[in-house]
Amino acid sequence: MQSTTIKRRFMAVAALFLLMAGAAGAAPPFGGGQDVAFARALWQALASVGMVGDRNPILSRPYRGKPPHGKILDLLERRVVVNGFNGVAIVKKNYGGEGLTVNDVIDHPREYLKSVTVMFKRGRGYDPENRDWFYVKYAPDGAILKNPKGMLLAGRVAKGKPTGCIACHRTAPGGDFVFNHDRYR
Ligand code: HEC
Repeated sequence: MQSTTIKRRFMAVAALFLLMAGAAGAAPPFGGGQDVAFARALWQALASVGMVGDRNPILSRPYRGKPPHGKILDLLERRVVVNGFNGVAIVKKNYGGEGLTVNDVIDHPREYLKSVTVMFKRGRGYDPENRDWFYVKYAPDGAILKNPKGMLLAGRVAKGKPTGCIACHRTAPGGDFVFNHDRYR
C-alpha cells in the first residue's frame, strides 16, 4: 500500500512538473510578470505628469474616433521616464455611452471614460519587428485589463496572433504602428 501511495505521489509531482515546463515553454509574449510590473511603473510615470489618474489630469479636446477604441477619443503624448528609460508615451483615452456626444465628454470626461490604451516606445531591441512599442490597456483607475481569455493586456499584445493591438497597429499608415501621424517613423 505504501509503495502505491509513493508511486502515485511521484506520478502527480511528475505530471505537475511537466505541466509547468510546458506552460513556461509556451510563455505568451504579453501579460507576464515583467510586463505587468512595467505597466504599473508606466502608469505611475503617466500619473506623475498628469496624463492619467484622478488628480486633475490634463484634458485635450476629444474627437469622434474609429473603432475599436470607442466612440469618442482623445490623445496625449510626451516623453516619460519609466524605470530609468526615457521614451515616448502615447495615451489614448476611450470614452463610451448611449448616444454620447463630444460635448458630453468635454463636460463630464470622468463619467464616460471607459479605458486608457497606451503605447510606450521602449529601448531598441525590445521588439524590433514591432518598432519596439509596449502596449497596455488600463481601466480608468489604472488596473490592467484582460482579454476574453483572461490574459492581461500588457506587453507585446498579441504578437503573432491575427487580432489584437499589434496585428491591427501593423496596418497603420507610414509603417510606424501609429495611426494618427508618422512622427516616429
Ligand atoms: C482593430 C484595430 C485596432 C486594435 C485591435 C487596437 N487598435 Fe489602437 N488604434 C486603432 C486605430 C484605428 C487608431 C486611431 C484612432 C483614432 O484616433 O481615430 C488607434 C489608436 C491608438 C493609439 C493612439 C496612437 C495611434 O496609433 O494613433 C494608441 C495608444 C492605441 N491605439 C493603443 C492600442 C492598444 C494598447 C491596443 C490593444 C490593447 C490597441 N490599440 C488595439 C486601431 C486598433
